[in-house]
Amino acid sequence: MAVTKDQILAALAKVPSPDGAALPESRTLSDIVVSDGKVFFSITVDAGAVKAWEAVRQRAEEAVRAVPGVQSALVALTAERAAGAGRAPQPASRAAAHPTDKTMPGIPGVDAVIAVASGKGGVGKSTTAVNLALGLRDLGLKVGMLDADIYGPSLPKLLAIKEKPQTIGGTRLKPIERYGLAVMSIGFLIDEETPMIWRGPMVMSAITQMLREVEWGKLDVMVVDMPPGTGDAQLTMAQQVPLKGAVIVSTPQDLALIDARRGVAMFKRVNVPVLGVVENMSYFLCPHCGTRSDIFGHGGARHEAQRLGVPFLGEVPLNMAIREKSDSGLPVVATEPDGELAKIYREIASRVRDQLRGGATARRTAPKIVIEA
Ligand SMILES: Nc1ncnc2c1ncn2[C@@H]1O[C@H](COP(=O)(O)OP(=O)(O)OP(=O)(O)O)[C@@H](O)[C@H]1O
Ligand SMILES: [Mg+2]
Repeated sequence: MAVTKDQILAALAKVPSPDGAALPESRTLSDIVVSDGKVFFSITVDAGAVKAWEAVRQRAEEAVRAVPGVQSALVALTAERAAGAGRAPQPASRAAAHPTDKTMPGIPGVDAVIAVASGKGGVGKSTTAVNLALGLRDLGLKVGMLDADIYGPSLPKLLAIKEKPQTIGGTRLKPIERYGLAVMSIGFLIDEETPMIWRGPMVMSAITQMLREVEWGKLDVMVVDMPPGTGDAQLTMAQQVPLKGAVIVSTPQDLALIDARRGVAMFKRVNVPVLGVVENMSYFLCPHCGTRSDIFGHGGARHEAQRLGVPFLGEVPLNMAIREKSDSGLPVVATEPDGELAKIYREIASRVRDQLRGGATARRTAPKIVIEA
């Protein structure tokens, strides 16, 4: 028996929202997509209430999973900007002093270092970074990946790397090879259980070491998976590395877009060209029938990119395979290279490569991509 939307709503009626009302009565639910035993929807709440709602999101996922016939449930919590919230910061009119390419030492053997960043956490940076790196690899480039998320490194999990890197001559580390990528993460060096109490200066030195004391070899591109936000790690990258550019990942929601704007503004301020914006979890693509549903009102990032005058690199659907595969260390571009999703990431990769070749050399004037209305 196929699962129906009404069954899902009945299960959700038993989940209270923070003010006590049943979830379906709370006017926070998106359309509910039920596809072959897989259920997807989002809960949209005020930005200030996100914390209180996380437990509701989890309970909703559990309640949906308990419905007979449901194989999996994916409930996304998304935040809405409160009415009248402040406008996004404008990029600084005068760029802050930034060491130029000439004074900033590069990483020997590495042609281009790019950062994959976002203002907000959990938008899919690491997932995008891994698949983008694999997409660049598929274009014939030699690619490395650096996990700059010192507090919550993702690459050991996303690439299923358990081994420890070897040292060369007792001082330099060899990156770990996986799917043809040279990979380094602080997560390779410390135990997963170790609490990570790093202070700012330690974060900086850890990143600097991973950049400079690792035997990267000859790389066309190094893709850096950034932690969320605009803190010490971003600053270190901008100051220690001649970044060729940054890719900003955003979800379609308004709040994420504000953060994306902040991310764009930050890189512009330090004179690092924004190679473009990727809209992640953009729409739901049914894995069975191929039907597309815009459950989160997609298209915001494309619009925003156009407004900010930065290229739009592409849309990645919300897809169970992306989540399941990346969380089990089998990124789709490597393990389903002929699939639709791999194709999407490869297209994004080729736009990034084109930006690196042409547009991004003129530092403050990344060319606009013509975007249809
Ligand atoms: N397009 C997608 N479809 C479905 N799930 C996705 C998609 N992109 C990312 N995810 C899932 O969303 C979760 C968060 O993704 P990810 O860890 O890549 O985000 P992040 O921005 O790097 O997070 P953090 O800010 O914590 O570093 C993961 O479980 C991931 O598998
Ligand atoms: Mg991450």
